[in-house]
Amino acid sequence: MTHARGDTLGPRLGMNIDHVATVRNARYKDAKLDGNVTGASPFAHAEPDPVRAAHEAELGGALCITAHLREDRRHVRDRDIERLIETVRVKFNLEMAATESMVALAEKTRPHMCTLVPEGREEVTTEGGLDVAGQRDRLARIVRRLQTVGVRSSAFIDANETQIRAAADAGFDACELHTGPYAIAFAHTGGELHTGPAHAELITLQNAGALVRELGMQLNAGHGLTVASVGPVARIEGMEELHIGHSIVARSIYIGMRAAVREMVDTISAAAR
Ligand code: PXP
Repeated sequence: MTHARGDTLGPRLGMNIDHVATVRNARYKDAKLDGNVTGASPFAHAEPDPVRAAHEAELGGALCITAHLREDRRHVRDRDIERLIETVRVKFNLEMAATESMVALAEKTRPHMCTLVPEGREEVTTEGGLDVAGQRDRLARIVRRLQTVGVRSSAFIDANETQIRAAADAGFDACELHTGPYAIAFAHTGGELHTGPAHAELITLQNAGALVRELGMQLNAGHGLTVASVGPVARIEGMEELHIGHSIVARSIYIGMRAAVREMVDTISAAAR
């Protein structure tokens, strides 16, 4: 099923702005970023600003903004999250580890949704799905705490039946299926989708997506997607939201953030049509 929203069709684009902060931090590592929302800060020049990038992404058609506040604050910082919560006009999705300090921050700041992810200190980006099955009861308590303050919860998981069933048992509102293995297979096979590994990964995602919906959860997906590989994922039955960061930020260096987001939104819409 596809659904129309304004001039777009199919899944919403959730724009992940972490890598804008990665570029900023490469230069302004120790900046305090303590100014107000309008940017009147001694570090107003700490560019690129992920909050301004989020605004551009909204103008380009993103219907959700995502930021991952890591334990080591390697890209977005606490002040970025406060400013995003104050200024983002579409949905705001806080990606975070399932730790006490992050849950407390989510209870205080109340984003629309929290996506729980595993967090390894050495990884460059999130590398694998969350092991929900191995910590189901602990995660169920976190999900209930988030629901109590009106925050939806999503589990970033591998497209695996055990994990999906555990996410439903834990009470998650949504699952974000990890599309990394599909994206890698797609790149390695030059986009061959009739047979071979990318085809197999796509079937795995389709079956996993059907189970997520059968168990009554919202179906989201993301990681590693590009304008070349996003189409087949956008066409998966009932897909609601696609979370994409790196390829859009990379493309924005050439054509600007608003245009890069619009290009991805149009690609998703065309695929869903
Ligand atoms: N979803 C999750 C849970 C992620 O951790 C990330 C990467 O930060 C993404 C989606 C976006 O992945 P990419 O930057 O490869 O598009």
